[in-house]
Amino acid sequence: MKVTAQAQPNIALVKYWGKRDLARNLPAVSSLSITLDSLWTRMSVSFGGAGTDSLEVNGAVAPTMLDRVSGCLDLVVGSERECAQVVSESNFPIGAGLASSASAFAALVVAADEAAGSGRDTLMLARLAGAASGSAARSLYGGIVELTAGIDEIDLRNLAEHDEWPLEVVVAVTEKGQKPVGSGEAMVRGAGTSPFYSSWIERQDEDMKCARTAVAERDFASLAHIAEHNCLKMHSVMWTSRPPIVYWNKATLGCMEVVRSLRAAGHSVFFTIDAGPQVKAVCLPESADAVEAALSATHGVVQTMRSGLGTGARIIAT
Ligand code: DP6
Repeated sequence: MKVTAQAQPNIALVKYWGKRDLARNLPAVSSLSITLDSLWTRMSVSFGGAGTDSLEVNGAVAPTMLDRVSGCLDLVVGSERECAQVVSESNFPIGAGLASSASAFAALVVAADEAAGSGRDTLMLARLAGAASGSAARSLYGGIVELTAGIDEIDLRNLAEHDEWPLEVVVAVTEKGQKPVGSGEAMVRGAGTSPFYSSWIERQDEDMKCARTAVAERDFASLAHIAEHNCLKMHSVMWTSRPPIVYWNKATLGCMEVVRSLRAAGHSVFFTIDAGPQVKAVCLPESADAVEAALSATHGVVQTMRSGLGTGARIIAT
């Protein structure tokens, strides 16, 4: 049976950076994210026959990603499984700091679980997705999502459904190429070499508390404040890793400046940046047109994409 699942990427407002347990890919810190709506990855999975797994991404054979996909399928179905045919399609650039691995692994576990007839619940699927890619666990849920990093496992819950606080996101793409260092490798380097890593870990619960309260009170200004602070702290760990990891380019800085000017002009908007040079501007709906116009006019921005908040990963065809 062929099963297709869809998941959307999520953007962390309080970031996951660092691993407690490398082998099980357990995060060292809790995180808080929003799941997008209009960007998506669709994964089709079917099992059958002997031989080797196959993976096609956006119409091309993708041998470099096959090991990670096969490893994830082993977790969902068991390593004694039949071989899998996996076809992935996304409507946004992959491997460029736009959380494509989050939507890909979230969709993969949902499709594989259904194709194998396992029937796990959302939390179990999220834990499996998180073992493949930490941020993917959050894309099993929609709206505003909290991931709590426990000693042995992660827990997840919705803080708000996608339509309970209608935030908008404008993504400013400043470069479409693949990132130079993958986030997993970059986290390990940061933990081993950055003098800021221990204080990053120590202060995360405080940031989570502020963000959780801001969401509960629908307090955009407080959420903006803590999200930008947390993002800049994560990038400080990256910059002070040895060798340093700097994902930003000139346009990244230009976009940050534009977001600050928009805010000074009265718009409700803040930026966040992940393991790549793209800037995600989170705003209230009434500011979204102005934010998109200003970011698309920023020097070095090659494309803008816009999204509201969406639902979690789900089956779309069997
Ligand atoms: C900067 O989930 O890609 O986007 O677990 O190694 O696959 P792995 O890492 P990944 O890291 C995402 C890091 C981030 C912040 C975040 O999404 O919380």
